Amino acid sequence: MRKLAAVILAAGVGVRMKSPLAKVLHLVCGVPMVRHVASAVKELSASPVVVVVPPANGETIQKHVGGLADSYVIQEKPLGTGDALLRAVDLLRGFDGHLLVTCGDTPLLSSRVLEELLAFHLERKSKATILSTFLENPCGYGRIVRKGRRVVAIVEERDATPSQRKINEINAGTYVFSSREIFKVLPRISNRNAQKEFYLTDVIRLLTRKNLPVYAFPSSNPENVLGVNTRRELLQVNEIMQRRILDHHLNSGVSIIHPSTTLIAADVTIGEGTTIYPFTILEGGTTIGEHCAIGPGARIVRSHVASGTTVQYSILVEAEVGEGCQIGPFAYLRPESKLKKKVRVGNFVEIKKSTIGNSSKVPHLSYIGDATIGDAVNIGAGVITCNYDGKGKFPTFIEDEAFIGSNTNLRAPLRIGKGAVTGAGSVVTRDVEPYTLVVGVPARVVKKIEGH
Ligand code: UD1
Ligand code: CA
Repeated sequence: MRKLAAVILAAGVGVRMKSPLAKVLHLVCGVPMVRHVASAVKELSASPVVVVVPPANGETIQKHVGGLADSYVIQEKPLGTGDALLRAVDLLRGFDGHLLVTCGDTPLLSSRVLEELLAFHLERKSKATILSTFLENPCGYGRIVRKGRRVVAIVEERDATPSQRKINEINAGTYVFSSREIFKVLPRISNRNAQKEFYLTDVIRLLTRKNLPVYAFPSSNPENVLGVNTRRELLQVNEIMQRRILDHHLNSGVSIIHPSTTLIAADVTIGEGTTIYPFTILEGGTTIGEHCAIGPGARIVRSHVASGTTVQYSILVEAEVGEGCQIGPFAYLRPESKLKKKVRVGNFVEIKKSTIGNSSKVPHLSYIGDATIGDAVNIGAGVITCNYDGKGKFPTFIEDEAFIGSNTNLRAPLRIGKGAVTGAGSVVTRDVEPYTLVVGVPARVVKKIEGH
């Protein structure tokens, strides 16, 4: 079995982003860059996987990467990529095998490219293999200086001579090393360079001086290795990844009508036969079932939508929607909204922290908050649950088959019994027995409904 450990360098400050947020936490298709990298590394089954984090955002990075890595180590000061790797070496003492080192700011790297790099490294019996690529505009990247097939050095843009700057083979910032060799040379790098940083790239010169075999493996698609240092580059990698995500869904039987107005986060799943209409944004681990019609104009965040449901011009945040529901146009489902099957939520309806039973309808102009609504309930136009008295929030229960007349105000806490009816414009302040008609302000019992 191959012995492989991995280190992800994620402790840089990212000055060029001009942001208080650590660079590696910036989102690419809804997921922090460093998490994309960690997912790709995870697929290689490396052990352990160590992430080098900055003191300021270390915990947040750890929260986002979670179980994709085994341990986290803090680099107290951003003294350079070489120093960052050195921080991880302490944790790797005793490890003897291949060491994958990669950066948290290259989110388009896939496990396939990493596998190819590793295979190349093993086949050549290399002691250090650099992932490289050829860029038309190599500006900003370290350049690969070769002598024949072997690599002799990597020179950073700022330290390069004019002729070295013309080299368009660049360092992707991802490497496989023989752990023994890298542990030996790493403590010997210095910071005598333009940026006064300890460059990890300097180990290449030290290894080649010892006559050890060092190679670069050029990735055929430069997109895979793009690094993000600026917001412009962040936008560029977002566009590339978005295109890949849409392709993935198209290949899995999802129709996308207008890709340029559709945003789908990397961690979203969509069932076969679903159509995504224009101006739709699906975010944060949302799942959509099969044969749904989503959009036009839907924003769905951290929500689950079951099969056969339609959502038009509506916003759903942390909502759970059952099969065959119809939502919108212009509905707003706030966190903890739960719709069971075949529910209809129509225009200008806001729902918060409420459950709505099978085949119930809230078709027009309502606010439903802190409510539990049974099956086959009809909520008339303009019904409001008055759940808040200025101090506390109170629940409303509406049992099966109740009929709430238009413009009813339901003053919580309140229970409306099974099959009960409220007249249009009622203000209901007391519980209503099953099969009872109430009307007026405040609502009074008119009669028991016949047949019950
Ligand atoms: C680095 C490489 C460059 C390569 C490029 C590829 C060096 C010296 N240069 O340059 O050859 O072409 O990546 O994208 O390695 N980091 C730390 N601690 C630090 C500094 C950086 O953990 O003290 C992390 C950053 O969070 C980042 C990664 O290392 O994820 C790369 O750092 P960055 O400053 O972006 O290096 P580049 O200048 O892009
Ligand atoms: Ca970089």
